[in-house]
Amino acid sequence: MNFVTATPRSVTVRAPAKVNCELRVGPLGRAGFHELSTVFMAVGLYDEVTVTHADRWSVTTTGPYAAHVPDGEDNLAVRAARLLARHMRVTRSVVSIRIDKHIPVAGGMAGGSADAAAVLVACDHLWGLRMDREELLDLAARLGSDVPFCLAGGIAIGSGRGERLAPVLARGTYHWVFALSSEGLSTPTVFAEFDRLTVGSRIAQPEPSPAMMTALRSGDPEALGDALVNDLQEPALSLRPGLRAVLDAGLEFGALGGIVSGSGPTVAFLTGSSEHALDLCVALTASGVVDQVTRAKGPVHGAQVLAGPSRD
Ligand code: C5P
Repeated sequence: MNFVTATPRSVTVRAPAKVNCELRVGPLGRAGFHELSTVFMAVGLYDEVTVTHADRWSVTTTGPYAAHVPDGEDNLAVRAARLLARHMRVTRSVVSIRIDKHIPVAGGMAGGSADAAAVLVACDHLWGLRMDREELLDLAARLGSDVPFCLAGGIAIGSGRGERLAPVLARGTYHWVFALSSEGLSTPTVFAEFDRLTVGSRIAQPEPSPAMMTALRSGDPEALGDALVNDLQEPALSLRPGLRAVLDAGLEFGALGGIVSGSGPTVAFLTGSSEHALDLCVALTASGVVDQVTRAKGPVHGAQVLAGPSRD
């Protein structure tokens, strides 16, 4: 009898966007990174990434933000696949990567990091590596500060440069509305603006606030709305003064809290229910101050295999 060994041909993984419910920025360290204390929440806005065995490396992107994605070696997704292949000494490692992009690019929602996390999980499956979670998290941290969280998902405290994760006691489901900008903001530029605005002031070592911890433990969206805080908000507003009108509009239309997401320019609003979120989307769209709105629930899982491995 003839047996044909079935080999996995492709694997699809979806990875979520994040919002920082709290982002405290500390002093600039010698490696060019700021010490952070942040509370990440993964939200149900996803990129879907498919990796397929191929003869040459390639990245193709579809979806609403396809045009803004860097290609070739600049793409963090390609770097993720190459890093994993090198680390695990995978011989047949060439893959084509297809990204269905629904997370805004350079939007402060970890879009590129989500793709990198998705590629790590997808290649792990495609190549049959069955890697240890800790080892994957270590590799993720080498790719970017937000990549480990995109792997982990849920709600977590990030420290160090954001890559060191610790669990948080949290309850409830939260309904977010995101006001998106048609043009992204560069993360290093926003951190540099933070440095410029804080020059000469003493910057405290950042740590999670008791108000945030209590709010997450209670599961009460009003308490979480009150506790939202982001030290990168002022620098983002300084670079994009128009975002202030967006924040004001959301709060005026009844959001429980509003905050620039990460390094921006996305503005995240917390609402009390999915109906409330829908109402806020309608009001923001009608106001004309926002380029585009979307809504999503959190917390959600980190990068997860959707389909595959499909077999030849
Ligand atoms: O880690 P990631 O590649 O996402 O960081 C992008 C840039 O953002 C860094 O090169 C640095 O300029 C800035 N950054 C920082 N402090 C952090 C995280 C990022 O200054 N904790």
